[in-house]
Amino acid sequence: MRFAHLECADAARRQQMREARCHAGKVVAAFRRIDTLARVSRWVEWHRSYEDVESPLARRLVIVQRDIAAALSAAPAGPIRIVSMCTGDGRDLLGVIADHPRGRDVVGRLVELDPELAGRARAGAPAGIEVVETDAGTTAAYAGAVPGDLVLACGVFGNISLADVERTIATLPMLCAPGATVVWTRHRSAPDRTALLRDAFTAAGFAEVAFDAPDGSLFTVGAHRLVPTRCRSSRASTCSSSRASRRSPRRARSAASGTT
Ligand SMILES: C[S@@+](CC[C@H](N)C(=O)[O-])C[C@H]1O[C@@H](n2cnc3c(N)ncnc32)[C@H](O)[C@@H]1O
Repeated sequence: MRFAHLECADAARRQQMREARCHAGKVVAAFRRIDTLARVSRWVEWHRSYEDVESPLARRLVIVQRDIAAALSAAPAGPIRIVSMCTGDGRDLLGVIADHPRGRDVVGRLVELDPELAGRARAGAPAGIEVVETDAGTTAAYAGAVPGDLVLACGVFGNISLADVERTIATLPMLCAPGATVVWTRHRSAPDRTALLRDAFTAAGFAEVAFDAPDGSLFTVGAHRLVPTRCRSSRASTCSSSRASRRSPRRARSAASGTT
């Protein structure tokens, strides 16, 4: 089990990859547990909440799509590789690229286990975006599609144990090109674990770009950027911004400032 298309920029990145590989097997177990906890077919029903524009899920989608659009806007010229784990019907990404000026540059893979949802995603996906109906917890699901410039982990971290969430975050750099953005979601039901998740992203080498936790809702949306390795290795001096940025993210919103 390996991520065949990942390239190492330098020794530090190779070390990071070695450590991440140690986690990979456990990530497999984590994703499999999503299905153990809840039958995949119930996710078709879960998607119906999107149709109510006042629902938390629809409000969450607005923020997720804002972060996706921002990542596309910030991407350098050329193809933008995306990977979406447990993509559902793919509406978060597909809804953005239909209108975004960089939409035609987006290529990549959406991974979804449920046949009906995968079919819907496939029907809406342009050429260059493949929908793979397989287990997102197997590293093979991403072979040939990584490293991604944008990785989506929406609706994942609320459905696996905290330990598995932390292992998954530690493994995410394996899926990411330097400077890649990960957009993720997690509920805040008590006990609210989002601070731990944000710290886990920092520990894995990411800097926070945005974190939204609107009043009157339990959802949160995060966007984290993988800090290029050279910067990470010296972050105690010139690039010590990862942790600081968690406390004062460039685009962080609180509900008080009107997130959505
Ligand atoms: C909470 S939904 C999130 C869907 C989408 N990412 C979103 O935010 O709208 C979780 C999705 O994960 C899918 N899923 C569950 N276990 C999976 C697995 N092992 N591999 C791939 N997809 C899985 C479900 O079918 C469902 O579509």
